Amino acid sequence: MKAGFYQFAPRFGDMKYNLQKVIDAAAPVETDLLVLPELFNTGYQFTSKEEAKSLSEKIPSGDTANTLIKLSAKKKVYIAAGIAEYSEGKIYNSAVLTGPDGLIGVYRKIHLFYEEKLWFSPGDTGFKVWQTPLGNIGIMICFDWFFPESARTLAFRGADVIAHPSNLILPHCPDAMVTRCIENKVFTVTANRTGSEQRGDKEKLMFIGKSQITSPKGEILYRASGDREELTVIEIAVEKARDKNLNSMNNLFSDRKKEFYE
Ligand code: ACM
Repeated sequence: MKAGFYQFAPRFGDMKYNLQKVIDAAAPVETDLLVLPELFNTGYQFTSKEEAKSLSEKIPSGDTANTLIKLSAKKKVYIAAGIAEYSEGKIYNSAVLTGPDGLIGVYRKIHLFYEEKLWFSPGDTGFKVWQTPLGNIGIMICFDWFFPESARTLAFRGADVIAHPSNLILPHCPDAMVTRCIENKVFTVTANRTGSEQRGDKEKLMFIGKSQITSPKGEILYRASGDREELTVIEIAVEKARDKNLNSMNNLFSDRKKEFYE
């Protein structure tokens, strides 16, 4: 399948601009899977819960989910995208997976980073993997990478490809994804954002770009620049994620020694 990401700098609070950016960037592109950054429609640095609430949307009735559903149908593309979700009085840092036939599912970020804990409720969906004609697609969001159990659980649940919407600030993730992929034999598509935000009297956040597509062997198939907008698509062979043997005597899953793990 063709898998890609769109790395760009969303404008805080300007959903119309951010959605139009995605529509325009996707227009000339042919891909099967497109991954967008975390909170791509709202921006990242909220200053109050009220602000986060006012920018969050219901799924699938909100504008963002609706736009992605329409874009998926028009372009026959699967889209994994991070958005602020409003549901039953709570706000979640969520990601949707949409496909040519509509909304496929929602994942709510489990490991909230730093001040996200002030605005968002921790995710309650569990890690999800969806079977699609392209292969099995799982989602984790940004800081979830820091907890190896996230990618591991997605791999156990059959993910061939982990879509990884991100707003990375710390420098380590692109290199760490090599290990996440080797230890689980999965593909990952990390879609990060560029630019910076400095809102109210908060510290300036610099986003590191470097979106990356990594293979089950830990090969960095593509790493984007740190600061430029780009939509990049490459061909990946999902069946390479299905064989969990390392050699004739080692298997990633059956060699685990659960009795020694906590
Ligand atoms: C992050 O999880 N956005 C760092």
